[in-house]
Amino acid sequence: MNGIKIKGAGRCAPSKIVTNEDMTHIVDTSEEWILSRTGIRHRHHLAEGETITGMAAEAARRALESAGVAPEEIGACIVATLTPDTLVPSAACVLQRQLGLPHDIPCFDLNAACTGFLFALHTMECLLNASKRKYGLVIGAENLSRITNWADRGTCILFGDGAAGVVVECREGWPSISAELGCHGTDEMLRVPVVETGVPSLIYMEGTKVFKFAVQAVPYCIDKVLEKTGKTVDDVDFFVFHQANARIIDLAVRKYRIPQEKYYKNISEYGNTSAASIPLVISELYEQGRVRSGSRVLVVGFGGGLTWGGALVEFA
Ligand code: ACO
Repeated sequence: MNGIKIKGAGRCAPSKIVTNEDMTHIVDTSEEWILSRTGIRHRHHLAEGETITGMAAEAARRALESAGVAPEEIGACIVATLTPDTLVPSAACVLQRQLGLPHDIPCFDLNAACTGFLFALHTMECLLNASKRKYGLVIGAENLSRITNWADRGTCILFGDGAAGVVVECREGWPSISAELGCHGTDEMLRVPVVETGVPSLIYMEGTKVFKFAVQAVPYCIDKVLEKTGKTVDDVDFFVFHQANARIIDLAVRKYRIPQEKYYKNISEYGNTSAASIPLVISELYEQGRVRSGSRVLVVGFGGGLTWGGALVEFA
């Protein structure tokens, strides 16, 4: 299989900023507790008139611009999300129209919770191998503030809204991203029911149990990807982690002795934005020039489902 590489990245954060101080007016919590237990200082929430599809379209435009790729060159579009504005049309179909993507390509949404972006990257690699066009658009976009339980202090302080994405290119001879993906179906510790069940469609999460799952899933994914690619930690230029809790990242960094210049945390700015979290990191790194042509990045995600995944992604 021919591999994909990232050619450009873009993001769009909602305009409303909710600080930890704001949170103290909603639930019984403190700025200090939130910062020390999660690493979050504030998060962005959709303001009135903003939509997640609007954010996704803006992130996609910026990604296309940074890649120097025209909409008509795109061979597939996937939006990873668990909170689309509408189930039908999908966010990806709306993007097809708004961005002027070709009509003869697959555009669809994909839900693998916080691992959604990685599932989408792998799916895109498969799709582009069967496409006459060589570029693909992969976006992560979430409106988690819409499904947040504002009476639960253990979860409401964590989540934010946002959109970010990448343009990837597929070329003969390029190595595959070697995605290692997995899931274990359980709703015991993390679930969002659909509206029709009569149960409120809000995030339910037993944080400590999910935390324990996450600190096992991250090294599992790193080991699997290194084993599959025959690389070592030293061969990796940068590590990109799903931003769920700064302590989860710190534990992984310590375990693998990853130097400070090889990983990045932006959870203090955005909170946990689920499928948007990984591309938000990638687009900031790309803009700052910390990853560039030839950079080899090990990406790790985990989340609801339960789902997990890792991949070794290069920049074109
Ligand atoms: N402010 C103050 N106190 C709080 C708050 C709060 N916001 N939330 C919980 N507490 C209290 C609890 O009530 C508890 O008090 P008690 O000991 O008197 O009962 C105490 O703090 C400790 O609570 P824990 O839940 O054990 O706290 P923990 O250290 O585990 O941190 C957290 C909670 C931040 C949620 C953490 O467990 C976490 O980050 N979990 C992982 C989340 C994750 O990775 N999610 C990924 C998937 S999300 C997705 O897929 C959409």
